[in-house]
Amino acid sequence: MKQFTSVSNLQQHLNTLRDQGLVIGFVPTMGALHGGHLALVESAQKNCDVVVVTIFVNPTQFNNEGDLSNYPKRTSEDLDLLQSANCDIVFMPSSEEVYPKDKPKFTIDLGKIATVMEGTHRPGHFQGVVNVVARFFEIIQPHSAYFGQKDFQQVAVVEKLANDLEFDVSIVPVPTKRLSNGLAMSSRNYRLTDADKENASIIYKTLLKGREWADKYSPAVTRQRMEEYFNTGKLELEYLRIVHPQSMEELQHYWVDGAIAGIAAYCGEVRLIDNMKLS
Ligand code: PAJ
Repeated sequence: MKQFTSVSNLQQHLNTLRDQGLVIGFVPTMGALHGGHLALVESAQKNCDVVVVTIFVNPTQFNNEGDLSNYPKRTSEDLDLLQSANCDIVFMPSSEEVYPKDKPKFTIDLGKIATVMEGTHRPGHFQGVVNVVARFFEIIQPHSAYFGQKDFQQVAVVEKLANDLEFDVSIVPVPTKRLSNGLAMSSRNYRLTDADKENASIIYKTLLKGREWADKYSPAVTRQRMEEYFNTGKLELEYLRIVHPQSMEELQHYWVDGAIAGIAAYCGEVRLIDNMKLS
C-alpha cells in the first residue's frame, strides 16, 4: 500500500497509472475506520483496478468546534485495516495541501438539500462536504467514487456537485453496514460504551417499526408513532423525518415510492444518524 501526504506526489503517481489505462476508484473518509468504510473499499475493488482512500478530517464541514476536536483519531489502526483490506493507495494530506491559501474553495447552490434534516441541523455542513469532495475529485480525478447510503443526503449532495461542477465521475452508493443489534457502524461509535451501543439500537428498531407502520398509516401518523416508540428508549431525538427520496420534501399524507425515514439523535454527547427506505 502506497501512502501519500503531498498532492503533487500523489498526482504524479496517479498520472502514471492513468497512462497505463487503469480505472481509479476513490473512497473518501475522515478516518476512525470501521466495517462501513471497508464495505466501500470492497465495492470499489470490485469495479476498479486501483483504489485510493483519503483520510482527512475536514474542518470546513464541522459546524461545532467540540465535535471537530472530539472526532476520533486512530491513524495507525486505520493504516493496518487498509493494509489488510489490500487497499492500493492512502492519501492523508494536511489542511494546507487540501486548501491552499490562494485557491478559492469549491461551492455550489445546494437548493432544498441544505434546508432539511442534516441541512437544517448542521448549518454549513454540506457546503463543507462540497469544498472537500470537489477538491479531492480535482486532485484524484477518479473514474468512480463510493459513498455510504447511511449518509443519504450526502450522496445527493455529491451527485449534485459532480453534475453542477461537471466532474466526469460516477457516484456509487453503498448499503449501510450494521452491528448485530442493528446500530449503523460509525466512527462516532468509538466514543460509545457497550451499554450505549445497546441503547442506541433504538434508532434501528424505530426505523424497522416505521417500515411496518408505513403499510397501515399515513406518513404523518407513522412519524408520530415512530417518535413515541423512539422516546421509550434512552436517546434524545433531534429529528425524525419521512421524506421524498429525491426532493427531500417532508411527506405528510401520501406515500411515494422509495420514501425514506431519517433520524438524528444524541446518545449522551455523541450524535448519531441513520435512515431506512420505508416504502
Ligand atoms: P466518514 O464519516 O468517515 O464516512 C466516509 C464514508 O463512509 C461516507 O461515504 C459514509 O457514508 C460511509 N459510511 C459511514 N458509515 C457507514 C456504514 N455504516 N455503512 C456504509 N457506509 C458508511 O462521510 C464522511 O466521512 C465525510 O463527509 C467525507 C465524505 C469523507 C467528506 O469529508
